This record gives sequence, C-alpha cells and structure tokens, in this order.
Amino acid sequence: MSFDSAPGLDELSEVERLSLDELQALQLERLRWTLRHAYENVPFYKAKFDAAGVHPDDCKELADLAKFPFTTKADLRDNYPFGMFAVPQDQVRRIHASSGTTGKPTVVGYTEQDIDTWATVMARSIFAAGGRPGHKVHVAYGYGLFTGGLGAHYGAEKLGCTVIPASGGMTARQVQIITDFRPEIIMVTPSYLLTMLDEFERQGIDPKTSSLRVGIFGAEPWTEQMRTEIEERTSMHAVDIYGLSEVMGPGVAQECVETKDGLHVWEDHFYPEIIDPVDETVLGPGENGELLFTSLTKQALPIIRYRTRDLTRLLPGTARPAFRRMEKVTGRSDDMIILRGVNVFPTQIEEIVLATADLSPHFQLRLSTHDRLDRMTVLVEAREDTSDERRTSAAEEIAARVKDGVGVSVGVEVVDPDTLERSVGKMRRVIDQRERP
Ligand code: DLL
Repeated sequence: MSFDSAPGLDELSEVERLSLDELQALQLERLRWTLRHAYENVPFYKAKFDAAGVHPDDCKELADLAKFPFTTKADLRDNYPFGMFAVPQDQVRRIHASSGTTGKPTVVGYTEQDIDTWATVMARSIFAAGGRPGHKVHVAYGYGLFTGGLGAHYGAEKLGCTVIPASGGMTARQVQIITDFRPEIIMVTPSYLLTMLDEFERQGIDPKTSSLRVGIFGAEPWTEQMRTEIEERTSMHAVDIYGLSEVMGPGVAQECVETKDGLHVWEDHFYPEIIDPVDETVLGPGENGELLFTSLTKQALPIIRYRTRDLTRLLPGTARPAFRRMEKVTGRSDDMIILRGVNVFPTQIEEIVLATADLSPHFQLRLSTHDRLDRMTVLVEAREDTSDERRTSAAEEIAARVKDGVGVSVGVEVVDPDTLERSVGKMRRVIDQRERP
C-alpha cells in the first residue's frame, strides 16, 4: 500500500469535494435547523436560550452562533439520563455513555439516521486514513457503552471492510488474531497499541513483520514523538482520530494519511469554534484555545456550543480543502497539572520521555505532597538491556529537560521493565496522591 499520493477526486464523497462557499451554505441551513430542533424539543435549551434573550430565528449567518449559550458536561449530568434527548424514546435506537471519573455518566442517544450519519463520517475517516473496501480492520477499542468499539465497527462495515471486533483486553489473544487473520488496519488507543507491541516482542514476533499497515489512534492525547516511536517499531502509518460521545463518538475529525498534518473536522456535521476558556470570547483562525462543537444534523441529541475542554487551534484545510483542520489535541484543560504555579500537560512529559534514548515509552506521573509542597515524580520504565549507569544518567537527562522545557523541577525514577500499569483502553497517566487541604 502506498500513501504518498492523495486519493483521486472521484474517490472522495460528494461533500468532500464541495467548495468553501457551498459548505458554508449547507452549514448555515443545518445550523438553523439544529437551533430550532433543540429549542422546540428540549426544555433545557428553550430555558437557556430564553434566559440569554436569543431565539433560533436570530441566527442569520454562521457568526451569529456566538450569541447562543454554551452547553457543558454538567448540563448533561443535570439532565441525567435522557433529559437532553430531542426525540421520543421510541425513536432512539441506541444509547452510549461515557463513564467519567466521578459522579453520574454522561448519557447520549442516537436515532437510526444518527447511527447512519456516524457510520458515514467514520467510513470517511477510515478512508482518509488509507483504508479501502476489502481491507480487514481489527477494532480493539472497547465495545459497550464506550463509543469507540461500535463507532469504529459500523464505519468500517459501511466502507466495505471486513471487521474483526476484538474489543479491548486479552492482549496475547489480540496478537494471535492479528498474526492469523492478517488485518491491514488496526483501530485502538495509542497506549494500548504500545501494550500490544510489547506482547508481540514477548512472543518473539517482530511487529514490523505483521500485516498491519495503518493504525487509527485516538480517544486520548498522543504526540508526534509517539507517532515516530510507533512508525519506527512497526510497518504502520500512524494517524490520529478524534471524537467525543457528546458530539457523536469517534469520527468527528480525522487525519489524512497522505499529509499527517492535523485532523480534518467533518464540518458538514460538526461545526467547530475556538474560544478563550477564561473570558469565553470566540478566537480567530490559528489561535489556541478551547474547542467547542455544535452538531449540525443530529436528531436524538442536538448539542449547541459544547465545551469539550480540549485545547487546540483551527487551521485551514489541506488534503480536504473545504474542511478546516484541528491541530493534534495537546491536552484537556482538566488534565493540566498546576505544579507550584507552573502548568504541565502529560503530553509535554511524553515528548521528553520518548526523546530520551534507552527508555521505554511507558511512563506515569505521580503527584504527592511533601512539606506542604506539591511534587511530581515521573516514573518511566527502562528497556530490557538498559544498564544501571544509563538508568541514572537517563533520569538526570529527563529532569534537566523538564526543568528546561517546562520550567519546573520534577523527580524521575527509572523503574524495571514491566512494572508500570499497562493500558487496555484509555491510559491513566496521572496518579494523584496529593493531600487536599
Ligand atoms: O474517546 C471517542 C473516541 C473513541 C475517539 C475512539 C477516538 C477514538 P469519550 O470517551 O467521550 O469519546 O472521550 C472524549 O477523549 O474530549 C478528548 O479529551 C479525548 N480524545 C478523543 N480523541 C482524542 C485524540 C471518545 N485523538 C475525549 N487526541 C475528548 C486527544 C482525544 N484526545
């Protein structure tokens, strides 16, 4: 499989060939429908729009969306379980939920048409990643209430692929299935892929010799350094997929394999904005801030200006010119660690760990309190053949690079191979043992 050249125009779906003007006209029509649908069918939206003094008829151009109020995760929780649904329950074909770490899960619903839309954007995503009809797609995102497994599954089927619905876990069996069934494509969290690569090596199989040619990785932040690590250890192209349950699930935005330059947002269904998370004003193209989404076609759960908490920026389209790109998400505002006044994202530490020779890509961050001061320790696994001296010098290197690049002092412990918790889905990077006042 070669991915150097872009697919021919005739291979793209009709909407992927729209001009910017045509796309924006479609978005405005769909946005006006969505605002009306939400206002008329969800008491929460009616109350919120009324309180803000706005009405769906006030939306005359796309920029008018900025007049409408935000929706947050707390709003979905307050309306638990089905209060945000805009259609009668007998039209809801499926429910998913995201567990969250505390409190009630966030519940989302889909009509038959929503499920078809989702499969369509997922099929488009897999195609953009290099997948073609007839390919075998190993889906190792979890199946169940999590949107990853079933979202990927329906999209791969819609594209005309053969789906291997492996779900997460039982890593030795995953490796056996990949070796025996020979899929070209794998869809999995990047952290679980690392767990699988170690298992390949444990079984004495070089992952480079496997049939896998494309990995579609998402559901958690990962860095360019991680892309290099994966591409060097395998024969795969590593591309990024983004999405969230409240907006749909996976397939909201996808990186194209021929450019690997950020994720094209499927803007005919999901309208993105970037705001300053503090003063809440809308930011312009290229400016960094919090990503918001408004659904444009969803029936069961229309969502208006949803605050994702994900930090990124919007850039012009490249491989799909009409669709803007979002830069790789570097972290969620919720994941940001404030360490003695300095903001630290786990992805910053990932970049440094992966750039340090002789260490594995497995690391965790432990936060603790000593003498009333917060302290962060980076725990990182050595590789099998790393000498004791090298472990010590690598720990010093990481501490110096964090101090230099991030601006904060951290402790670093290089631990034995296979001692840190392994991911089978979304990785838990931070272990917070800080004392709360
Ligand atoms: O994680 C949906 C998904 C499944 C996306 C499989 C991609 C692949 P939630 O469980 O609702 O949905 O979590 C959504 O995960 O707000 C981001 O913080 C994070 N996230 C998802 N994709 C990426 C990505 C699914 N490519 C939350 N890069 C989002 C960084 C991501 N973070």
